[in-house]
Formats: sequence, C-alpha cells, structure tokens
Amino acid sequence: MEKLSENALRILQERYLLKGKDGSFQESPEEMFRRVAHAIAKAETKWGGEEESKSWEASFFEMMSNLYFLPNSPTLMNAGTGRGQLSACFVLPVEDSLEGIFETLKQAALVHQNGGGTGFNFSRLRPAGDRLNTYGGFASGPISFIKLYDFATEQVKQGGRRRGANMGILNVNHPDILEFIKLRVNGKPLQNFNLSVGITDDFMEAVLLDKEWDLMHPNSGRAIRTVGARLIWEEILNNAWESGNPGLIFLDTINRSNPIIQLGKIQATNPCGEVPLMDYESCNLGSINLSKFVKEKELDWGLLSETVHKAVRFLDNVIEVNNYPSSNIEQATKGNRKIGLGVMGWAEMLIQLETPYDSEEAEDMAKNIMKFIQEESFLASSKLAEERGNFDNWNKSVYYPDQKMRNATRTSIAPTGTISILANTSSSIEPLFGLAFQRRKVLNGQNLTSINDFFIKKLKEKGLFFQEILDLISIDGSCLKIKELPDKFKSVFKTALEIDPKWHLKHQIAFQQFTENAVSKTVNLPSSAGLEDISEIYKLAWEWKAKGITVFRNDTGREQVLYKGIKE
Ligand code: CDP
Repeated sequence: MEKLSENALRILQERYLLKGKDGSFQESPEEMFRRVAHAIAKAETKWGGEEESKSWEASFFEMMSNLYFLPNSPTLMNAGTGRGQLSACFVLPVEDSLEGIFETLKQAALVHQNGGGTGFNFSRLRPAGDRLNTYGGFASGPISFIKLYDFATEQVKQGGRRRGANMGILNVNHPDILEFIKLRVNGKPLQNFNLSVGITDDFMEAVLLDKEWDLMHPNSGRAIRTVGARLIWEEILNNAWESGNPGLIFLDTINRSNPIIQLGKIQATNPCGEVPLMDYESCNLGSINLSKFVKEKELDWGLLSETVHKAVRFLDNVIEVNNYPSSNIEQATKGNRKIGLGVMGWAEMLIQLETPYDSEEAEDMAKNIMKFIQEESFLASSKLAEERGNFDNWNKSVYYPDQKMRNATRTSIAPTGTISILANTSSSIEPLFGLAFQRRKVLNGQNLTSINDFFIKKLKEKGLFFQEILDLISIDGSCLKIKELPDKFKSVFKTALEIDPKWHLKHQIAFQQFTENAVSKTVNLPSSAGLEDISEIYKLAWEWKAKGITVFRNDTGREQVLYKGIKE
C-alpha cells in the first residue's frame, strides 16, 4: 500500500472512513480500500465462482491502494456500507407539470443524500407568465424552479460530507433565456448550480452572421419573440466574465457522437459536464493516476493497458452492485451501462517527462495516451460483453451488429476534485494551479495547503534546492520570476494562469477527440481578460468540437476555492 499524504489522510478521516456513533474510526485507509475492493468484486459471483471473486478483489485492492486508479467519491464512501449508491453522475427529466417537477426534486434529493450530482434541462417548462390551463393563473417559469431546486439542495447535506451539485441547462431558444443567463450574477444564493446554455449549431451560425434569433414556446414550437443572436451572445459573455457562469454545452456536437441516438437526443449533462446522459441515466466514474505511470522518463504502456482493463471491469461491476435511488434510474442505467474512465495527474506526468504543458509535444502526447486508453477500454468492454453479454439497448446502438459491447460509453474526463487529493496528484488534465497553493474552506471551513512534490524533487535533482526558492514560491506559487532557475526548468513548471488560455483549450480538445463522453475542464483566465477573450475561447470551443466549455477568471474578488501561494 502506497503511503498517503497528510492532506489525503485529513480528507479520508473527515469524510470517507466509516465512523461509529461516537465518532471513532471503524476502519483505516487500508481497510477502506479492502471494503471497496470486496464490495465491487462481489459482482463477479454472478458469472464466476468465489475463487474468481477473491482474485479480482485482490487485484482491485492493489490497483486502488497503489493509487494507480481511484473510483469516484461515492464508490469510496458507500461501497460495502449498506448505503449503496456508488455513482457520481445523474440526469433527471423536468417535465412541464407540477407533479413532474416535484417528483424529480424528490429523486434529486435522494441522489444528493448519497453524494451524487444531478443535471437537468429546464427547457420543457413553459416560460414565466404563460397562462396555465387548469386553474387559470400564470406559470412561474424555469428560473423560479431552478431557485427552488437550489434551495432544496442546500438543505440536503450528506451527514456533512458533501453537498449535492447540480447542472442547470436552458436551451438558447427558450423565451426565458436572457433571465437565465443573468441568474448567477443576480441570484447570489444560487450556489449549488452550475449553469449552462444549451447551444445549437444554428445559433452559433446566427451569431457569426449577426442574424435574428427566434425564441420559441416549448409546447407549441411557435416563435414568441425575436432578438438579435448577438444580443444573447453578449449577455452570455458579460455574465461569464463576471461570474464564470453560464458555460455552454454544445448539444449538436454531443448528439453527433451519441451512441444510441435511436433512443432520443441527449439534452443534459451531469454537474461538471463530463457525462452527457439521457433522462434517468446515471454514470459511475473512475480515474487513472497518470503520474504513477512514468518509469525512467518513459511511459509504462504495459502497466497502463493492464490498469485500463481492470478499471473497466471494476466500473462495470459497480453497475451490478449499485443501489439506485429509483426504478427509473436503475432501468435507464442498466439499459446502457455507461461508465466513465478518465485520468488525473496529467500535469505531473508531463513534469516527469520534462515536457511543458503549453507545447505541441504535450498536445500530441495527450492524443496518444487518450487514444490508447480509449482503444484499450473498447477492447476491455467488448471482452466483457463476450463473458457477460451486451448492454440491453445494444441492438439500437452504433455497435450493432458487428461489435459486441458491454458499455455504451467507456471514457470520460472528470474533474477529480477530491480523489486527486487522495492520490496526491494534480487534478484531471489541469496544469498545476500553483507550485504552492491553498484550497480554502474545503475541510469543515479549514484550508488545505500544498507544495508540489515534483517541484521539490526536481529542484533536488538539479542541485537547486534552496530555502530562498521555497520562500519565493510560497508567496505567489510561481517560479517564473526566480532568476536562479534555468528557463527550461521554469517552462515545465508554468502554472494554470501562466499558460495561455488557448493551450488550456487545446488540451481539452486533444482529450475530447478520444473520449466518448465529455471532458470537464476549466479554462483559467487572468483577471485582466476581457469579453473578447471569452468570446474567442467560446467560439473556438465550438469550432474545435468541444462538448462544453467553462471559463474562470481569477482574483475577481469573488469567493473562489483555489488561491496561489500559501502565505495568508
Ligand atoms: O473527485 P471526486 O470523485 O470526488 O469528484 P469529481 O471528479 O470532482 O466530480 C465528479 C462528479 O461528481 C461531478 O461531475 C458531479 O457529478 C459529482 N459531484 C457532486 O455531485 N458533488 C460534489 N460536491 C462534487 C462532485
């Protein structure tokens, strides 16, 4: 078992390890990994014997305790505890009826209670002020129901472990779209929602050509108002500049690669955007820690292949032993059996290979690695289909009839916000945020500070390990101004805000090209960035076929989680 970092231990103790009624720990971190390995390997008994289950249990334990792979938080927290919900990602329908709205709110509360997140597209709701048939009166519209869902989310905390996250989407042709776009800026308390505008290709073309744009009634399909497409676009930019919201989701791009389009179009994603899902579908995630796969400045492809195969099996097993909050969710999830295998520690892998993040070499490497993971997970899932059968809707999917497949999708790049801390590595495919940085108020209101281990290691390797250098990076998390460090060295340790936003996007696209689901990525912008910068990134994201895009402008005085430097 790999030694865990101080921060990892603090998080595990606070939120993951089982505790008795008196607050005492019922398990050690090692026992937690054993509990999870045991619960997930139990699925094997459905197809094999006890022996097989035992041998997979050992294998899963090794993969997690070596920090090669970690499943999403709900699996670590809940597997084998009787609180059996193991997935992080859900999408629920919002029907245009009071009954539908409250039924979905109930299901969302159950999902949040066990550490999952929910995404919704509110576009089926009639606009605010629309006349209601049944009792007369006027509809309150999507915005007021988003606020209701937000308030409910705030009240449902999972034993203080984490509050549920939501994605709220409104399509760009909904009559209430302009109010929706301003929601985050005007609606301060709306803390539990990420907001995204559902964008179509024809809207983007209308923006480029400066055309008029129809806002349609969702029930009749009639245009009830016409505005300039650029007016909407500018409102989006203003609010994204101010608050980072709304992001965009590109619905046509998503549906062009929807593997089971026969079942209908996908309209929404989970909270951080990495999994586009049909109504009632859920998806469980897991991430490979790439920082562990560099041996002697080379990537260990054999170990990576082995880990991908095990991870796909693990994630398919999760679907089997999962407890679902409702029968609709169980049915939709088992029908398509989507899993989302992704990566973390990408920046730390590049550092070990001494490759700058903002280089074509890094971009090519991203494509090669993700292509490999995609191909291996494809093989792993089709092999599982031979053993266990195809997913139920296989004969309606793009794989039919030639390719056997156990899981409709296999790859997804999650933010790995917490599991990357457990694995003591950089999150997802993000560059280092700072060589020294703080995560503020993450642990019961306390801060977590980190100095990057690879930075220290490389300083030592090059004979440059001096207290003065550590003091300097403690101030602002950056080494670029330190004269004593060679330029090549500094280029490898550039941090998120020192990397041009276009390079952030290029990494997102490189990974997206070889990922069936989507990529969760934050394009960090300096506080000096203007509306034009956001416009360019948003347009390029669409052109380059991202499935969604989010920007975040640093140091705007708003509350944020990550701060560079560790001096208060
Ligand atoms: O690292 P961890 O497994 O905790 O989660 P992540 O990779 O940062 O986020 C993966 C997904 O978990 C998100 O897209 C959400 O669907 C869900 N999530 C949530 O519901 N609530 C949170 N506070 C964090 C994540």
